[in-house]
Amino acid sequence: MVATQLKRFTEKVAFVTGAGSGIGRATALAFAREGASLVLADISEESNNATAKEIEEIGARAIAVRCDVADGEDVKSALAKGMESFGRLDIAFNNAGIEHQVKKLNETSEEEWDRVIRVNLRSVYICMKYQIDLMLRNGTGGAIVNTSSTAGFMAIQGQGAYCASKFGVTAISKVAALEHAKSNIRVNALCPGITDTAMMSRITGDTPHGIARVVAQEPIGRMGRPEEIAAAVLFLCSDDSLFTTGHAMVVDGGQSTGI
Ligand code: NAI
Repeated sequence: MVATQLKRFTEKVAFVTGAGSGIGRATALAFAREGASLVLADISEESNNATAKEIEEIGARAIAVRCDVADGEDVKSALAKGMESFGRLDIAFNNAGIEHQVKKLNETSEEEWDRVIRVNLRSVYICMKYQIDLMLRNGTGGAIVNTSSTAGFMAIQGQGAYCASKFGVTAISKVAALEHAKSNIRVNALCPGITDTAMMSRITGDTPHGIARVVAQEPIGRMGRPEEIAAAVLFLCSDDSLFTTGHAMVVDGGQSTGI
């Protein structure tokens, strides 16, 4: 557990995608503990509702909205519901994403390529497109963090579509940061290393061999915890990082340090 006594987000409204599981869930809870009101967007209604319930139990406000982040109408509607409930948007954590099976590029089907690019990259463009308009309306700016990956700056064999999507997320985060710096909207990418979530369980098959294989990539000798990624997201969305924009922050236990 990351200890935190801070209340950096009182009266702030944060929109979090992929809030039903893993990094999104941990980050939504961390925002709530620090006083934010949450708009939770996830394609899985059940787990998204469960996160909302946990947030209410710690005394913060949350609405859960079923949303396919690759679908512009869904994203617009989720943002509109957030505005109806809370009246403003200060923070966005565009984090929902999917993995794919290890496959060389020439073995990757067109359908698989399109699916990964839609959910991991198109979604971030769609989310930012509508979030930035709402933040411009605030007049006070805002902070956006998009989940990239170490695969957002490192080539990984068998991960062509995933790498393409995450390099893309890093790129559009930097472009948006430049475009809106003068309006006080900060945009950063977050590049986690191997993190212990449902996605990672699917990748390792939850077997000792599978876990050992991925942990072997981590100089620190273990997976990251979702709360450790959340702590970096909160930093990037807080007033502690007001001079930080267009940055791709690596939180990876040293995984990429030797490259
Ligand atoms: P997870 O699988 O535990 O959680 C992902 C959440 O996104 C789930 O709640 C799922 O329902 C939701 N989701 C999936 N497709 C969606 C869609 N079309 N619309 C709305 N919601 C959707 O995964 P995890 O590990 O928490 O991943 C979060 C992000 O972190 C992803 O973008 C992933 O690529 C990235 N990442 C994860 C790493 C890891 O080691 N776990 C490492 C680097 C990046």
